[in-house]
Amino acid sequence: MMRATAWAPVNVALIKYWGKRKAKLRLPANSNLSVCLEQLGTETRVEFKKGLSEDKVIIDGQAARGRERDRVVKHLDRVRDMVKLEFKAKVVSKNNFPKSVGLSSSASGLAALSLAASKAAGLDLSEKDLSRLARLGSGSACRSIPGGWVEWKAGSSDKDSYAETVFSAKHWDVRILVVLLSFEQKRVSTTDGHAVAGTSVFYQERLRWARRKLREMKRVIEKRDLASFGEVMEDEALNMHAVMLTSRPNLIYWLPETVRVMQVVQDWREKGLESYFTINTGQNVFVFCLPKDEDRLVRRLKQVKGVIEVRRDRVGRGARLLT
Ligand code: DP6
Repeated sequence: MMRATAWAPVNVALIKYWGKRKAKLRLPANSNLSVCLEQLGTETRVEFKKGLSEDKVIIDGQAARGRERDRVVKHLDRVRDMVKLEFKAKVVSKNNFPKSVGLSSSASGLAALSLAASKAAGLDLSEKDLSRLARLGSGSACRSIPGGWVEWKAGSSDKDSYAETVFSAKHWDVRILVVLLSFEQKRVSTTDGHAVAGTSVFYQERLRWARRKLREMKRVIEKRDLASFGEVMEDEALNMHAVMLTSRPNLIYWLPETVRVMQVVQDWREKGLESYFTINTGQNVFVFCLPKDEDRLVRRLKQVKGVIEVRRDRVGRGARLLT
């Protein structure tokens, strides 16, 4: 039976991947680091079948079209090429969160697809090779294969650019609140955004910064030092957005609500309720805190104008097979 089902988590970048060295191979301009979530993710079933005339791709109950479908078909082709398989596939994928709102549905989606499709094709790839495969589909997807706190070493070729766990999910119990602000689709895709990163006058400086901050980030995670961790994480998110804002074309991903959440987090912190934010593209904010402050923060965040929903999550494991 050429069928398999896999689940992969959303990951949240703490040191970001923004800009590519080689677009086609999705080699990042800088090494970067993220954390896997336990709850939010994508479940994907792949079945290769004799007699199908084309790939059938269903995402969240709807037939995928255009760019979204092409991306999946191209990824299936990569797997088919590895084993010289001719059959077309039926793919059914479900996110347990709204897609295209800066929640990296491409990361969990392409990671789950990599595991399910390779398994369905009869392959038994190592974690490293799965991560490399996922990277070709969407860069950040390579970080949803291993679990916990994950580093994606930039590497210099297809062979050595993949992600690995640096600290397990159990290393540090921080809570991650996913603050959803809008279900609108973002205006510029991340893939298009990456392509213009280098036009910002700040970009070269950012690459030097990211190298330094990655080292610092690993140190503060190791020490489980929330205040230092939060400072590096917020500075880094804003640093990436400084590049986005100053590229050509200018990329303004924030909504008024995004700014409001960043500001209340900082205000509450000054008054003693400790939490820190990070943002990717799109219309939501990730807020990190200690377990003891989680309930209070959720209550408060829900009252902020423009907040649609707050999802509670924690550090989780990586991609896994469900069948
Ligand atoms: C801002 O992995 O979505 O979330 O490789 O073109 O698919 P492609 O880009 P993608 O980029 C993610 C960018 C980011 C930062 C991050 O997750 O590191």
